[in-house]
Amino acid sequence: MLSVKHLIDTPSLTADDITQILDTAKSFEPLNNRKGIKKAPALRGRTIVNLFLEPSTRTRSSFELAEKRLSADALNMGGSTSSVVKGESLADTIQTIDAMNVDMFIVRAKLAGTPHKITENTDAVVINAGDGKHQHPTQAMLDLYTIREHFGHLDGLKVAIVGDLAHSRVCGSLAPALKTMGAEVTLVAPPTFQVDDPSWFGCDQTYRLDDVLEDMDVVYMLRVQLERMEGAAIPSRREYNRLYGLSLERADRMKEHAIICHPGPMNRGMEIDAEVADCARSRILNQVNAGVLTRMAEMYLLLGGEGDGVSD
Ligand code: CP
Repeated sequence: MLSVKHLIDTPSLTADDITQILDTAKSFEPLNNRKGIKKAPALRGRTIVNLFLEPSTRTRSSFELAEKRLSADALNMGGSTSSVVKGESLADTIQTIDAMNVDMFIVRAKLAGTPHKITENTDAVVINAGDGKHQHPTQAMLDLYTIREHFGHLDGLKVAIVGDLAHSRVCGSLAPALKTMGAEVTLVAPPTFQVDDPSWFGCDQTYRLDDVLEDMDVVYMLRVQLERMEGAAIPSRREYNRLYGLSLERADRMKEHAIICHPGPMNRGMEIDAEVADCARSRILNQVNAGVLTRMAEMYLLLGGEGDGVSD
């Protein structure tokens, strides 16, 4: 059982919560990765609303797959197909759906704080599937799962999170979760992309990627979020790639066992070169696979699941 009712942010999670999520996700691996029927009864009879008010490929499809794997009933809602476009407030929409007795809302929203606000209008469990520049806790759990799978542990690992820190909910979730699990985190970004107060995350911060690259176990590249940028924060795509892009030459300088992660979607040729995204060090598709496992685990644990979740 987790110490939280909702999954809104990672600073609220204890090391025990995170370990439970990762271990439960691991227990779902044989089910999710087998060739035959990929279905268990763990959430049979539970109703889960996927409320995606902002575009998503990975998060939305992995939540929907995770719900199907665990036999939940899913209701898919998007901003443009709901009565929000007729002027209904989000609170009214949530109370309306809540009156139909649903068990869980999965919420992706452009506006930071929306998932927390929704908890005030429903008794159902809420999972934050990414809200503005604030948090993306389920992304952090799949990242930790991927890293733990490679190294067998998280404590003591050196992780660089590189790129557009200022606009990144991924960094805001991943950095505290890594710290909770005992990893050392270095934030790397040009001055215009740095966070105001890295000590909030308990991290070091630098603008010199080449100074830290060779010391890292994990190099986690962030997408440059062109859609969230106000004004010209970087001189050009090419200049950004030259100073902060992960090229083959840089990847070759990493430690022998070190890995590369990226949350997707990628700007190939900007923060990461195409051949690096597909190289042997890259764990980007492992992250995608872990997204289904960890989201199965989060829904299962938050809806009160116990045991392996697979037996009928
Ligand atoms: N990483 C991530 O959240 O991707 P999507 O926006 O495609 O869900």
